[in-house]
Amino acid sequence: GNNVSIGLLGLGVVGSGVIKLVEEHQEKLVHQLGCGVQVKSVLVRDLEKTREVALDRTFLTSNPDDVLNDPEIDIVVEVMGGIDLAREYILKAFAAKKHVVTANKDLVALHGIELQEAASKNKCDFYYEASVAGGIPILRGIVDGLASDRIQQVMGIVNGTTNYILTKMNTEGLSYETALKQAQDLGFAEADPTSDVEGLDAARKMAILGRLSFSTDVDLEDVEVSGITNIEIEDLEYGKQLGYTMKLIGFANFDNQQLEINVQPTLLSNSHPLSDVKNEYNAVYVYGKAVGETMFYGPGAGSLPTATAIMSDVIAAIKNMRLGVTGNQFVKSHFKKVLKTPEQ
Ligand code: NAP
Ligand code: HSE
Repeated sequence: GNNVSIGLLGLGVVGSGVIKLVEEHQEKLVHQLGCGVQVKSVLVRDLEKTREVALDRTFLTSNPDDVLNDPEIDIVVEVMGGIDLAREYILKAFAAKKHVVTANKDLVALHGIELQEAASKNKCDFYYEASVAGGIPILRGIVDGLASDRIQQVMGIVNGTTNYILTKMNTEGLSYETALKQAQDLGFAEADPTSDVEGLDAARKMAILGRLSFSTDVDLEDVEVSGITNIEIEDLEYGKQLGYTMKLIGFANFDNQQLEINVQPTLLSNSHPLSDVKNEYNAVYVYGKAVGETMFYGPGAGSLPTATAIMSDVIAAIKNMRLGVTGNQFVKSHFKKVLKTPEQ
């Protein structure tokens, strides 16, 4: 069949990974879809910047309308980050009847429900697999794999940068600053890494996971957060001597409408499976009433792993287009929630 054209908003760590995947795995895409996928336009801030991806420069634009108003583009991939502008562009894309795929957890945690409604109104897909736990297909695992189950608990390491920092401090004795700098150089950290180290990025992901797992409205404000900025090498050493490893853990429990959700540094016994998750890797434990215990593990950040999650959404959107259906991830909030306070 005819090739499907996609447009990118952003060509940084994740956007470059998408370009590479589309190029290097084109044969697999054709095998999956019976047609090729091509990147038609890419929005960037700086047209002059040196790019490491092999992309014809004529595809680059600094005018968002070249992506959002091009009738040949069916799917818009938002990998620029930020909140207000990204929200505006995505709403424009829906108004122009384009499907949207995003890696932007900041935006999905805050405005996911509004964007989902705009998508549904325009009969468009809105997918955000890459927004939680990078390359791990965790949202599809929850939404499709465990569709019939009543999920009760989700717990895990959902921020690659802080896990990288804690691992390097713990195993190589690196200082917090050096480890953070490495995580930034490797492309794991957010543009402003404050949201990583203060636990906000993990909180955003926990809000998204909670919403999809429990089919209830989980707001970012529901998540109690504390980050790793006050952790000292001595704290890690002390834990180590006792057989414990420090991890930034996200926890969410939903039982009898009571929601408990938080992110905090936690000393885990070395016999705990999460204690062995190293560097930028993430792991998410999901307990469902019927399925029991499940664990999902893999790279939680980085260019190609995150691009793999983006492309899984692009492929899902193309398959839906063929069938003339939409397959959105968040079905309207169903269960009532009551926030559990620590005293309860
Ligand atoms: P990045 O490397 O900083 O790249 C951002 C890209 O967006 C750049 O190409 C930049 O253009 C472009 N851009 C930013 N603001 C723009 C604007 N106002 N107008 C036009 N272009 C703009 O970021 P990233 O690491 O790829 O992350 C992108 C998104 O993915 C974020 O939402 C992030 O949270 C999410 N994410 C990242 C990872 C990861 O491992 N890095 C994993 C999962 C999710 P220039 O190139 O011209 O500067
Ligand atoms: N900054 C994020 C992290 C990127 O370190 O986990 C992946 O969402």
